[in-house]
Amino acid sequence: MFFKKTKEMPIELDNLPKHVAFIMDGNGRWAKRRGLPRLMGHNAGTEMLKRIVIESKKLKIENITFYAFSTENWRRPEDEVNGLMDILVKFFRSEIDEIVENKVKINIFGDIDVLPKYAKTEVLRAIERTQHHTEMNFNIALNYGGRDEIIRAVKEIATEYKSEKIALDDIDESLFSDHLFSKGLPDPDLLIRTSGEQRLSNFMLWQVAYTEFVFDEHYWPDFDETLYRSALIKYQKRHRRFGAI
Ligand code: IPE
Ligand code: IPE
Ligand code: MG
Repeated sequence: MFFKKTKEMPIELDNLPKHVAFIMDGNGRWAKRRGLPRLMGHNAGTEMLKRIVIESKKLKIENITFYAFSTENWRRPEDEVNGLMDILVKFFRSEIDEIVENKVKINIFGDIDVLPKYAKTEVLRAIERTQHHTEMNFNIALNYGGRDEIIRAVKEIATEYKSEKIALDDIDESLFSDHLFSKGLPDPDLLIRTSGEQRLSNFMLWQVAYTEFVFDEHYWPDFDETLYRSALIKYQKRHRRFGAI
């Protein structure tokens, strides 16, 4: 065991992001480094996810989004995909009561129709039980791909245009955003990706137009509250210009 710096750094509570998105990467390498199976890394990652949700709630961050499974992650070995679905179901079964008690709303970004039936049922139940909650949006990107999301929006808008529900001039950024899974939510102010990789991997392509990025070297299961807070402090030091001067 080593001693970890736990001293809390100053954080400006009046300048917190309204939406933080996380690319939880590095579970596999975290496990490998310990000589453990990859799924143990996903289990450890889920424990950290819970802690980061609790910390976000404590800080009163209104929207949090976690990339849990991408449209490309189906390319992984069947065992790993099945293991991830089991972890997802276990997560909802064990945490849903606490999520409900805390008035947190679960939103899923992604097409859950193709999930295994038992997983889909659990996810739908969680959505249903939390749909009226307003304390915090806890968004989980599941079978999510940014390009897939954009194509879906285009198809919906084309259908509305074809049936004359909308006119060509009605199509603007706001209408387009309303056809995304993130409908009604603000774009992420901050995106955190762990494990040292510096890429988006098809995550929220439309929504991150003006998002601040923080890339952290730690593997996701090691990304604790202290590292989260230091990412928030980094964000608070940035100057967001949105194209102005
Ligand atoms: C992220 O960890 C979790 C998922 C993609 C489900 P990885 O499984 O990608 O871990 P690495 O990148 O292989 O270390
Ligand atoms: C992105 O991580 C997806 C999730 C975190 C769920 P990946 O590990 O799948 O991304 P790549 O393959 O390294 O780009
Ligand atoms: Mg990865």
